[in-house]
Amino acid sequence: MHIVVSDDARRKIPLHTAANKTLSAQRKGRKHGGGAVHILEVDSLHLSFGGVAALRDVSFQVPEGSITTVIGPNGAGKTSLFNSISGFYKPQRGTIRYRGADISRLSPPQRAALGLARTFQNIALFRGMTVLDNIKLGAHVHLRTGLLGALAYFGRARREEMAIREEVERRIIDFLEIDHIRRQPVASLPYGLQKRVELARALAMRPTVLMLDEPVAGMNREEKEDMARFILDIKEEWDVTVLMVEHDMGMVMDLSDHVVVLNFGEVIAAGTPYDVQNDPAVIRAYLGDGDIEALRQRLTGRKEAA
Ligand SMILES: Nc1ncnc2c1ncn2[C@@H]1O[C@H](COP(=O)(O)OP(=O)(O)O)[C@@H](O)[C@H]1O
Ligand SMILES: [Mg+2]
Repeated sequence: MHIVVSDDARRKIPLHTAANKTLSAQRKGRKHGGGAVHILEVDSLHLSFGGVAALRDVSFQVPEGSITTVIGPNGAGKTSLFNSISGFYKPQRGTIRYRGADISRLSPPQRAALGLARTFQNIALFRGMTVLDNIKLGAHVHLRTGLLGALAYFGRARREEMAIREEVERRIIDFLEIDHIRRQPVASLPYGLQKRVELARALAMRPTVLMLDEPVAGMNREEKEDMARFILDIKEEWDVTVLMVEHDMGMVMDLSDHVVVLNFGEVIAAGTPYDVQNDPAVIRAYLGDGDIEALRQRLTGRKEAA
């Protein structure tokens, strides 16, 4: 049987329908001053490798619906933080809450099924596979596994899920303008397009929180501008919270609602882009006792265009 998704239904399919079955009942989040809900709360995380502390007592919140960016010098702990939130690293202390529920002990696939999807600092795609097959792998987080799950999941529910998946894949391919390359092996594509395919795969997971580790690193100006537009649209049109690590300060200041600054594994500042770029501790972290005006230029990025 072929399930046809009507135009009307199509428009209404949220990206993250299947996620959050267990947590939706306890969907509380936490309010802060402005009334926004924190979709993620990181509290007193501590992670060390042998004697080296990569994260020390790291706490911050991600407002739902925001673009929140973690910045900091090389080695500050940004990727370690991402790996801890997505479950690849196990911090020795601290908690991570998603919509108010402690997820610190969940496995990476369990966190992904809740809606935490990510891309990697170094592209992690199956290079020999086509663009489309890579994207389809993203949807796998919602497939039931095990005999009982498979039995319960047979028949109508499964066909509906497949129809939704195909629809989501179509929407993503359309949105990211990669229809013309969907049958090509990833290895044959230029770098900027590979990064876009990785983004497509993360979106196929139907995320509530999309985590991007240096999404424009290594890109030329035009590729960066495309990526910036996609990230804004993901937030605004797809209703997804974005948590990213990024070095390109022009991009950070233009896109972010909320910025968290890490230095030597510690949070040294958090706030609006304006707040952090004027924060003396941030200026010191980036420049030592160097030229403050030069740093302000770097932090404000495309200021001259504004
Ligand atoms: N798997 C690991 N094993 C040992 N040390 C690590 C590992 N991952 C990160 N580190 C260390 O943690 C610190 C922070 O690294 P990282 O999180 O990659 O920083 P950033 O992404 O901000 O550049 C560095 O000192 C790094 O060497
Ligand atoms: Mg990193």
